[in-house]
Amino acid sequence: MFAEEEAALLIAAARTPQELREMVERRASGRPLEHVIGWAEFRGLRIGVDEGVFVPRRRTEFLVERAAALAPAAGAVVVDLCCGSGALGAALARSLDGPELHAADIDPVAARCARRNVEGLGLVHEGDLYGPLPQALRGRVDVLLANVPYVPSEEVDLLPVEARVHEARVALDGGRQSAVRDQ
Ligand SMILES: C[S@@+](CC[C@H](N)C(=O)[O-])C[C@H]1O[C@@H](n2cnc3c(N)ncnc32)[C@H](O)[C@@H]1O
Repeated sequence: MFAEEEAALLIAAARTPQELREMVERRASGRPLEHVIGWAEFRGLRIGVDEGVFVPRRRTEFLVERAAALAPAAGAVVVDLCCGSGALGAALARSLDGPELHAADIDPVAARCARRNVEGLGLVHEGDLYGPLPQALRGRVDVLLANVPYVPSEEVDLLPVEARVHEARVALDGGRQSAVRDQ
């Protein structure tokens, strides 16, 4: 995104000149734009993104497109695992007819944020992977969406400050690469 576009978003989000000054300062100190203005665009939706919550990346829209192509046209049962803000599940649910959406995340801050974003579209559960999902889903899931933490532990320190400092470590750290190689 170009600086002019960021400036336009900040100007649109600020209610007063003072608020704009504070937002610019927060952005200049390295906070992601989406945390400063409180939302990210994802597949044409405005997804609320609270401080610390993983900012949904535009490139992940591809995953939603693939899932939409594979899902049953009507009544699909969809699980968005490691849902973060809930952007993926919300976007997929909006492109299907009468889906049953369940999203889950281990981070209470992310789960709270996702609840707002999937309100009226589905349910958000809090806990480790499949643990918090209702038993009634067993054997009924048509589509499992999952954009899990994918940065090897050894490489988290190499991330730009926007991610390394301002997104929760649990959202980024995918574990030791050597542990995967050893399996
Ligand atoms: C890379 S972020 C992706 C978030 C979202 N899927 C997206 O693409 O915008 C990974 C998410 O996984 C969650 N997470 C990490 N470990 C988890 C676990 N064991 N069980 C459930 N969620 C987990 C994090 O809290 C974070 O929200």
